Amino acid sequence: MSVELPLALLRREAEARLSKQRFAHTLRVEAESVRLADLHGLSAEDTELLRAAALLHDITKELSAEDHLKLCEKWDILLDCESLSCPQILHQFSGAGVAAREFAMPETVCAAIRTHTTGGTEMDAVARILYLADLVEPGRSIASEPNICEVRHLAERDLCEACLVQMRREIRRLRDLGRDVHPLTVAACAAMEEEHKGRS
Ligand SMILES: [Fe+2]
Ligand SMILES: [Fe+2]
Repeated sequence: MSVELPLALLRREAEARLSKQRFAHTLRVEAESVRLADLHGLSAEDTELLRAAALLHDITKELSAEDHLKLCEKWDILLDCESLSCPQILHQFSGAGVAAREFAMPETVCAAIRTHTTGGTEMDAVARILYLADLVEPGRSIASEPNICEVRHLAERDLCEACLVQMRREIRRLRDLGRDVHPLTVAACAAMEEEHKGRS
């Protein structure tokens, strides 16, 4: 499949819709995604899809919870009650909607955006790299993400193991805080466990 995505337009849109800091984060996620794609031998087409996903992954992050819901309603994106009670993940759903409806992005791009915060059960290499690049891009510090060094190191050699380690820790962190874990993260972690076990 040959894809030609309007990356310059997506970059301009991200710059127009996001704060300076978040746009800088977006560019670092794009660069980190390309670096990891190279290390893991992704095709030129998949790398292009990944760059588009990186540029759009936080495109709705600065909207209010009310605006996320309006977008989801407008595009018939159904939200379960766990997502509705978790405002910080709404942008993965509304962002995927913007990618699909406003920018006509292929499903690979939308699916990666749709799972970049919670993870998901069917994450391809594009979705795994976006999930990890968002976490380990060079602007993230040990203070904000204590296990970042291990995940950063793992992300360079084994995408499944890196996602698994991150998902396990995220689940433990939320449970320690007495917070609910989104079912998508639990299911994603179980799927990665299964895959990882099957290989060893
Ligand atoms: Fe995000
Ligand atoms: Fe992000």
